[in-house]
This record gives sequence, C-alpha cells and structure tokens, in this order.
Amino acid sequence: MDSNTDHLVWGVTIAAAQTEGAHDRDGRGPSIWDTFTKKSHKIKDKSNNQIATNFYDRYKEDIDLSIDIGLKIFRFSISWSRVLPKGTGSINKKGIAFYNKVIDYCLEVGIEPWITTYHWDLPQNLQDKGGWRNREIIIDYENYITLLKDHFSDRVKKWILLNEAIVCVGAGYFLGIHAPGKRGIKNFSASIHHMLLAQAKGHRILKERKGLEVGTAVSCTKIDSYSNQRKDLKAAKRIDALMNRLCIEPYIGLGYPEKELPLVKRFKKFIKDGDMEEMKVDFDFWGIQTYAREVVRSAWYIPYLGSVLVTPKKRKVPVSVMGWETYPEGVQYFLERFSNYDPKKPLWLSECGIALSEKEDDSERIEYYKKIINGMNKVVDKGINLKGILLWTLVDNFEWAEGYVPRFGIVSMDKKTLNRKMKKTAFWLKDYLSSNSV
Ligand code: BGC
Repeated sequence: MDSNTDHLVWGVTIAAAQTEGAHDRDGRGPSIWDTFTKKSHKIKDKSNNQIATNFYDRYKEDIDLSIDIGLKIFRFSISWSRVLPKGTGSINKKGIAFYNKVIDYCLEVGIEPWITTYHWDLPQNLQDKGGWRNREIIIDYENYITLLKDHFSDRVKKWILLNEAIVCVGAGYFLGIHAPGKRGIKNFSASIHHMLLAQAKGHRILKERKGLEVGTAVSCTKIDSYSNQRKDLKAAKRIDALMNRLCIEPYIGLGYPEKELPLVKRFKKFIKDGDMEEMKVDFDFWGIQTYAREVVRSAWYIPYLGSVLVTPKKRKVPVSVMGWETYPEGVQYFLERFSNYDPKKPLWLSECGIALSEKEDDSERIEYYKKIINGMNKVVDKGINLKGILLWTLVDNFEWAEGYVPRFGIVSMDKKTLNRKMKKTAFWLKDYLSSNSV
C-alpha cells in the first residue's frame, strides 16, 4: 500500500455503555441506558447491555489484543454513573479504581489511553431531574469533568469531551429512539444548547492542566440533494447545517447556523446572555467520525426541517447492516472540509468502521478500510494535517437500539463464553501495520 500515510497513528475507540457490562457491580449507579433497555421493545433484538462485552473484567485481554494488532491508541469512555453513581455528589472509589487500572495497564503495555468523557450514558438520577434539558446539568458536568481531571489527567493526555452531540441529542431527545427516549423540538433545542455549552466549560476546566490536548468528536454525514431543484438544494443545506455544522460553528465564533437552519430560532429561549461568547473555545483538534451519506429532498409537510430522506433502499445503493449507505468517500470529503475551518486544527478520524452481519469472515470490511486508507492518502497528499485513525471498533458490541445484530468489530465475540477471536480484518490490519506504520 502507499506509504505517504506511514506517519498516521492507528488506534481504536470503544464506549462504556457498549462494552463494560457490570452494570450494577462495585457501586455503579444506573444510567439512562439501563432504564431504556428495560423497555425491551426499544431495542431491536430485545437485548440489553448488562453484560455487553464485559470489558469491565476483560479489559486486559482487549488492550492486549489491540497491542497484538499493532494499534497505538486505546480510546475508551468513562461511565459517569460508575464514578458518580448519582451523577453528582459522592464519588464511587471503586469506579475510579477501575479506570485507573485501565489507564495503568495501557501505559504498562505501551498503548496510549485516550478518554471520552461522555459517550451517551447519562446517570439516571440526572435524567430524573430533566437530563440535558435542564440547564443545571451544566454544573453537574463541570463537577464531573473536574473529578476526571483530578484523577486521570496526570496520565491521560488526550481527551475527547462529547462524542457526537448531534446523534446523542437527535436520537435521544428529538426522535426518542435512543435513551432517554424523549421527543420533540423543545427537548431537542434545550438539550443541544446545554450540552454544547457544557462542553465548552468542560474544555476550559481540562485546559487548566498544562499539556493536555482536548478535542471533540463530531458525527459527519455527507448530505446530498435529491435533485437540482432549488427547494431540494435548500433542504440539503438545512440538513447539512443540522448534521454537520450545528455542533462545530458556535465554538469557532460563527454561532449557530441560523440562516440555513431556521429551527435554531427556537434555541433562543434557552440561550442566556454570554452563552455564545462562552462557547468560543479553542479545541486542540477535531475528531471526525463518518459512516454514511444521506440524500434529502424538500418536504413541506415535515415540521421544523421541511425535508425527508430519500432512503438508500429507494436509491438502490449498497448499504451496511445498519441500513446506511456505505460511503467511504466521506472520509476525504470531511477531512478536506474541516481543514478549511479557521483556525486550522489537527484532524483525527476518531471513529471509522462498517457494520456487517458476519463473524470471522469480514473480507468486506478489509475492502472498506482499504478505501479509507485511499481517502487518507489523498488528503495527506494535499497537505492536510491528519494525525491518525481510530477504528470503530475492537470487539463486536452493543449497538444501542440495534442490539447485537450489527457487528462493527474487527474481533468477534462468542455471546455465551465472551471469548474473543480476531477476524480477517484484524489479521490483515496487523500485517498492514507491521509494514506500514511508525
Ligand atoms: C457512535 C458509536 C456507534 C457507531 C455506530 C458512532 O456514531 O459513536 O457509539 O456504535 O457510531 O453506530
């Protein structure tokens, strides 16, 4: 394979709610996903994440596997209710001890630990007070970040605050298909503003400690218009503003993209004096996560957005098990697009992967990653400051409302024994990394 991407660092991303299991062990408090999965109709295969991949007990094995494959970064998320069972107040020392073990083991065996502070699993106790809809959560998040900084920032230098705010709030507070299952424009508007503001405050807190690199991970979905008709082009711009700009532009001083996305006007009653100023923070890097492309057309009858998706099925394009159009070209597109933001920031592909239904034979995934490498090559050729790629994901895990059917891992897991087995992609990658990476 080409070699101009040799300097890129390869790693992996996992998330607490999708992997840890041990949902009620050692003092962990319930999260919104514990509550949500109890309503079994919400999860396609009626499963839950009480055991998941049992990363809680098997973290060493998973870190060893990552090392064996040749990965250099291990990005994991903290379960807020494991360290603060009620989301606020008393600390669960055993929860802190667990993450200390994970961090220390990473350092011992030579893989860099990265922390994601929030990957969608809010403590249920905070949800009972309104969750992200309630502005008071910003203070709770600040206290939580201070706690993480105090305990882990001596050893963890790379931090991602929020994982994909738009998906978290869109699915959880607008469509109701993810925890906490809330719907509607009011829930959405309040929650997204509070979450984005909390992230800015969290950034400032972490940056009090010298030497940390603090970024955010954003979901990026390529949006195309169904036709060249003006109304469809406008609809595509609207959805693009929602999916790809809303959670970025306030930080670089551009504010919310109100012109293209009129629903932003509804945020006004939740925005207090000084909020937009406070949101201007200088992230150290952008984490880009892209999986799919959507095509949209104008639809006057759809409230707030006036647009509908023209599904991949209708368009007869190849889809993954998630039903998403497989679109590796998005990598190049978004890396180029983000490289144009001012100020220019280092870029990471902080998640990247494809869901299949296979077990060990995942040759299709190898083809997918080859296309990703191709895209990365092109942007590196153009002089774009791409630092590396983190795979989504290591072991097949709990895929939120989709349960365990979609498999994103490069390692499979036997549901009964929880034993792990490297898939073809893992062997291919091991080979690739041993001859191509630094
Ligand atoms: C999320 C992961 C999720 C993956 C596939 C990403 O947006 O961060 O938690 O499993 O997409 O849906």
